[in-house]
Amino acid sequence: MFKLDFVNKYIYKHILKIIVSILFSFLAVIFSVLTFSTLYLFLQLLFDKIQAVAKPESFSFNQKIIADYLNFLFTEIIRVEGKSKALLYISLGAMLLFFVKNLLTYLSSYILAPVRNGILYNVRNDLYHKLLILPISFYRFHKKGDIISRASNDVQELDESILKPLQAVFIQSITIVFYLMALFIINYKLTLFVLILLPIGAFIISRISKVLKKTASKLQIKQGNILSIIEESISGLRIIKAYNAIDFSNDRFKKNNEIFTNIKNIIYRRTDLASPLSEVLGTTIVIATFLYGGSLIISKNSSLDGASFFLYLVLFINIINPAKSLTTANYQIKKGKASIERIKYIFDAKEIIEEHPQAIIKPDFNESIRFENLDFYYDNDKIVLQNINLEIKKGQSIAIVGPSGAGKTTLVDLIPRFYDTKGGNILIDEIPIKTIEIESLRKLTGIVSQECILFNDTVFNNIAFGKENVTEDSVIEAAKIANAHEFIIRMENGYHTFIGDSGSLLSGGQRQRLNIARAVLKNPPILILDEATSALDTESERLVQDALEKIMKGRTTIAIAHRLSTIYNMDEIIVMNHGKIVERGKHHELIAQNGLYKKLHDLQSFK
Ligand SMILES: Nc1ncnc2c1ncn2[C@@H]1O[C@H](COP(=O)(O)OP(=O)(O)OP(=O)(O)O)[C@@H](O)[C@H]1O
Ligand SMILES: [Mg+2]
Repeated sequence: MFKLDFVNKYIYKHILKIIVSILFSFLAVIFSVLTFSTLYLFLQLLFDKIQAVAKPESFSFNQKIIADYLNFLFTEIIRVEGKSKALLYISLGAMLLFFVKNLLTYLSSYILAPVRNGILYNVRNDLYHKLLILPISFYRFHKKGDIISRASNDVQELDESILKPLQAVFIQSITIVFYLMALFIINYKLTLFVLILLPIGAFIISRISKVLKKTASKLQIKQGNILSIIEESISGLRIIKAYNAIDFSNDRFKKNNEIFTNIKNIIYRRTDLASPLSEVLGTTIVIATFLYGGSLIISKNSSLDGASFFLYLVLFINIINPAKSLTTANYQIKKGKASIERIKYIFDAKEIIEEHPQAIIKPDFNESIRFENLDFYYDNDKIVLQNINLEIKKGQSIAIVGPSGAGKTTLVDLIPRFYDTKGGNILIDEIPIKTIEIESLRKLTGIVSQECILFNDTVFNNIAFGKENVTEDSVIEAAKIANAHEFIIRMENGYHTFIGDSGSLLSGGQRQRLNIARAVLKNPPILILDEATSALDTESERLVQDALEKIMKGRTTIAIAHRLSTIYNMDEIIVMNHGKIVERGKHHELIAQNGLYKKLHDLQSFK
């Protein structure tokens, strides 16, 4: 039951508090056993069973001595105060003991609250961090909704189905052990009899709960699907509406929801079985005990008398509830293990882009970037880049052009190590980038990517993204260079306007200019521009183009261009096709060559 994988590591962090909490539970159980012992006194008193005994010489945990002690104490009280007062004292004593017992139980859970939440806090933090570290390729095979579901639902499930039941297991086990000890003291024969029956019950229960984990993992997968559909639908709402796909999407969702609900029914029915099942088993055991205990009393040749047997049964019935909780906990933990596996899957995912053990920090860029016999393919082995050789000297601007799918974005993604090369090398100042510390490598490069990545935050925070202690002036200056200042100050709260999810409140051109402003502020020595393919209107395009030209000045730039009119003045133009460099040179040279570049150029001239 305790093979909880990575969760153990988190639990150990709080071991001290857990021990204190267990200690309180421990005390609470002692007090509850004491409470029931007063009941014993009560019965003895009613049945006139109390006989005066001499005060025992010394104290020890022996049934006879404890009983003698209590008898002595009690006969003294009766002698001095009379029977009815004694009855009152017993009742008051029982109440006090009961109060203390509950106080201790509460303290025990009180201490555990920050433990449970602390574990979740740490798991969530680590999980998010891991999601940031994981390579971009990881996200190609995993739906966003599924990952979100793991990071939210499964972590919640960890609490509900692992930590909470685990707490029950601790507390209830202590309770059961103590009550059993008390039962042993009262009558060991009867208790041995019970002990033989209990494991049989436990076995039956564990058999029935076995299938739970598998069903639970199916449930979590379906939950991930549902989240994926919601996530995709919200971001693709325009398309859904434009293509009249509301009914289509709705049906798709309903189908998934139906499967999800059916699995949930199975799970509810199974977990709900825990309670009646353990009750039936429990009652069977109680009745068996009744039978056996009764026969012991009838046969008269045992020390068991009516009052003891009554107390015995009361204590015994009090084991049933904790035992029931244990059963439920067992069910829950089986169910929770599916979530553990789903979270672990992310924790165990390979980081692939790993820091070189002797990675060097490279604070500046002095000479050149060189691609040397570079080969690359994504995980499906289809070659995407083949034998690329290219050198870009500091201060140069080069343009990469070529048909869609030629491998342009892939090529530039290799520079900040979003992916690692499969063959050959990329060298910055003749140092292979795999030996440069990843963070310092990424400081050298700034990217304005093909998709404009913005966050649901203010304009200011989107421009200042990833930088600390950024002044308002520097952000404004960056925005001015990016031709964004004008539209920003016309927004409701200027630089402090929220731009909506992924910048949904901005136009395409505005989004691009915010992305450019972000790169300007970062001020990297190497700038990578992946021109957006979506067409902008002429005015917007002119503003974006003008902004790009401004930031390229005096910087080493690799620009992927779709509008060839923008690259006439570049130092070199690289033409790519099917993952290879097919032509290179200046604009007029390439036109004269009358090859692919000329073709692309002619195609665009018709626009
Ligand atoms: N994450 C990926 N996993 C697998 N294959 C990919 C991935 N990204 C791109 N590809 C494939 O690699 C090839 C090159 O893609 P890339 O995005 O580099 O083209 P591109 O030249 O930038 O095209 P575009 O002009 O349309 O932006 C294409 O065949 C594409 O299908
Ligand atoms: Mg591209």
